[in-house]
Amino acid sequence: MQSDEVREKFLKFFERKGHKIMPSSSLVPESDPSVLFTTAGMQQFKAYYMRPEDAPAKNVVSVQKCVRTSDIDEVGDDTHLTFFEMLGNFSFGGYGRREAITYAYEFITKELELDISYVTVYKGEGIVPRDAESYNIWKELGMQDIREDGKDVFWGPTGDSGPCGPTTEIYCKNANGQDVEIWNIVFNEYFCDGSREKLDKGEANLKKLDVLGIDTGMGLERLVTIVQKKKSFYETDLFDSIVVKIKELSTTQDSKAERIVAEHIRSAVFLITDGVVPGNEGRGYILRRVLRRAVRFSDNLGIPKNNLSKLAEVVVSQYKSNYDITNNLVMSEINKEEEKFKETLEKGMKEFKKGIDPFTLATTYGFPIELTEELAKEEGRMIDRGDYEEKMKEHQKLSQTASVGMFKGGLANHEPNTIKLHTAHHLLLAALQEKFGKQVKQRGSNINEERLRMDFVFDRKITDEEKKEIENRVNEWISAGLPVIRHEMPLEEAEKLGAEMEFGAKYPPIVSVYKIMHASGPVSIEFCGGPHVTNTNEIGHFKIQKEEASSQGIRRIKAVLG
Ligand code: GLY
Repeated sequence: MQSDEVREKFLKFFERKGHKIMPSSSLVPESDPSVLFTTAGMQQFKAYYMRPEDAPAKNVVSVQKCVRTSDIDEVGDDTHLTFFEMLGNFSFGGYGRREAITYAYEFITKELELDISYVTVYKGEGIVPRDAESYNIWKELGMQDIREDGKDVFWGPTGDSGPCGPTTEIYCKNANGQDVEIWNIVFNEYFCDGSREKLDKGEANLKKLDVLGIDTGMGLERLVTIVQKKKSFYETDLFDSIVVKIKELSTTQDSKAERIVAEHIRSAVFLITDGVVPGNEGRGYILRRVLRRAVRFSDNLGIPKNNLSKLAEVVVSQYKSNYDITNNLVMSEINKEEEKFKETLEKGMKEFKKGIDPFTLATTYGFPIELTEELAKEEGRMIDRGDYEEKMKEHQKLSQTASVGMFKGGLANHEPNTIKLHTAHHLLLAALQEKFGKQVKQRGSNINEERLRMDFVFDRKITDEEKKEIENRVNEWISAGLPVIRHEMPLEEAEKLGAEMEFGAKYPPIVSVYKIMHASGPVSIEFCGGPHVTNTNEIGHFKIQKEEASSQGIRRIKAVLG
């Protein structure tokens, strides 16, 4: 049975049982800002458990896109995925335990013709009583092996509060002979006023809901693996075409790397489709991690540059009949991130092999700490995370205090875009000096998220042609992916280096200097407290917006990033 048929069978089965078919919601939850991603089918319906009268129907069914990234490092084994589809039926006062359990039993044993190894039911803890009703229903259905369990069979809430309750889980044997949990049937009987973590620590309270809710979740990939009698997800038709394409593009064989690339590309396609773009925090950072892992493992497989988007195309064509996928955006974001990271990876790997410490790798070579940690683990080494965190804290403190004292006018804030423009500011000054000579001194600057402004000593208008040349030069340095390196040194040494100083500024005996390095020598050396991007390739496209007179002998440039 193909995966498309499993999806279809599920929806149709519950439609026949009086459920309204609902589309998947976005991976970025609209109604639950307390969670990063949609991790369960019930999330889009969360509010209906408290207010059933608002629900579009009493009973609904869906196939929901989900992302869970807490176990990203485990991806590549037989049981972990970051992206998966979740089949689920839900009821807000339409039915209770008997129907929920009977439907599940019928679907698994009759529609899919699978044997159930055993089921679990809640044994009771604190104010939540033993689930005798579920136990008895399973007994009536002829279930021999019913196991009573605690915390593991109490589900939810998602986010910082919400519905939750005892569950009953269905286990089936996979092709390796192991029992795997395939379906989780939750009886939402309580509202929890804190997160699951707080609930487990006894710091949150449960309040009985007015109406019993049903919330079930069955991972499609796991189910299909069992239905198709395969040993792993990657052997099912859900992964067939992408795995074939990966093998076709690879020059070496490494089945774990193949799995990781396949899995991560799938995740990336769906995340980008739902509006996530690679970035340095939150959702963007997670997507970046997923994509960078895909780049790294595709590198291990010898897949040449600019091929990740080809893999993404395979995913798009596979899923486009079930989901709306924004093809062009997916391709361009993946290409951009791949390009950016390939160079960082090359340079950083060299340094990593030399044994450079994780802090320098992060701040100078743009190697995320998680990556360094993974690489070290592969070599059977541990890195000192505590030492890294400490140095990082110190680094941030230093760049903050330094930037207050040393950068006149300076930065309006430390938003990512302001930081990018700050590095672009250094490149602009370097380009002006390269073109017109070292006498072009900076006389003031102001940078915010939108634009940079630089005043400098120059006695005439800059022609359009010259502007273009300067712009091009800065963009060349940006795309060259030059590392931006911070050094602390005695003032004298910095002066000897010819570091660019702020006019009229007083410097302390130990100063912070930022160098932007090119293979042929430094492009820029400035006295500066930062912060800066770690590599110029993070900046984006540089554009001069305006060049005008500021005062006698002083010109002003305004520039933006596009
Ligand atoms: N909400 C049930 C599950 O995700 O398993």
